[in-house]
Amino acid sequence: SRYNVAVVGATGAVGEAMLAILAERGFPVGELHLLASERSAGETVEWNGRAIVVRDLADFDPAGIDIALFSAGAGVSKKYAPKFAAAGAVVIDNSSAFRYDDDVPLVVAEVNPEQCANRPRGIIANPNCSTMQMLVALAPLHRAAGIERINVCTYQSVSGAGRSGMEELGRQTAAMLNFQPHEPAKFPVQIAFNLIPHIDEFLENGFTKEEMKMVWETRKILGDEAIGVNPTAVRVPVFFGHSEAVHIETKRRLGVDEARELLAAAPGVEVIDEREPGGYPTPVTHAAGTDAVYVGRLREDPSHPRGLDLWIVSDNIRKGAALNAVQLAEIVVNERA
Ligand code: A2P
Repeated sequence: SRYNVAVVGATGAVGEAMLAILAERGFPVGELHLLASERSAGETVEWNGRAIVVRDLADFDPAGIDIALFSAGAGVSKKYAPKFAAAGAVVIDNSSAFRYDDDVPLVVAEVNPEQCANRPRGIIANPNCSTMQMLVALAPLHRAAGIERINVCTYQSVSGAGRSGMEELGRQTAAMLNFQPHEPAKFPVQIAFNLIPHIDEFLENGFTKEEMKMVWETRKILGDEAIGVNPTAVRVPVFFGHSEAVHIETKRRLGVDEARELLAAAPGVEVIDEREPGGYPTPVTHAAGTDAVYVGRLREDPSHPRGLDLWIVSDNIRKGAALNAVQLAEIVVNERA
């Protein structure tokens, strides 16, 4: 059977990838409704040979929608996702609006897919991009050896800040190379030829919300409130693909060989670890435009008897957002089949 799908935020960076991935994976789409703000209502988008007119979310009637993929920010999700769910849709929400609610499952397709079925509000939350790729790689290590603590530094691309983030990096870079003025707008300070240790708002404990998302979401997804997560999240002048330097401490010692075997067998993971020039994943050479979570630079921590270091890279727009959302939609429709 076919399912009527609504993509909310269809004109955004993630929405556009959702559309591409629905087509690539042959998702059984019946009607497809593209929704955005009044700013882009009336635009036409090509999808699988169909020309579809973008409509204003504010005056769309959700009756008859089976699956709604939301990626238009937390404010839009808070206001509209419950209306879509009340009309009978299963909402898969890419924003942070519901991630920490006890009655909303937070699901990485390769890690805790069974949680999708437990959705009393008709809403399933899609994790934050940085948590998503980290847990695709770490969940199998956690199951095998019990992770006690995660120290992580992220190197996050500007596409995570949406289309306007990409435009700002492009414009600023061109302006600087041409000796033109370049005022920051989307990012708090210059992003071209720079990096910024600040993503999302500052919280009372001195961490940013982007960092605390990794703490809260890791515990919820792995179902283990005892896991310690100590993150620093940094925006870097890369267009697509987040990278992470991850340092874990396990209950049982996990050597490089065992870790490599576990990762090689893990769904969604590709190990690229050759210990030679170019023998490691980077956003440009591996991640951008692809689906896998790439892991390299496996090493045993010389400062800790049960410590392991890894380098994890993935396309933040695809696995970090749109791909996982479509995978969750596949899980939902397969339950019904
Ligand atoms: P629009 O193109 O009309 O502004 P990005 O994360 O790349 O910036 O994309 C954000 C997405 O969310 C866009 O599709 C944008 O639509 C959509 N959006 C933003 N605000 C609203 C809103 N108030 N109602 C509906 N869609 C919105």
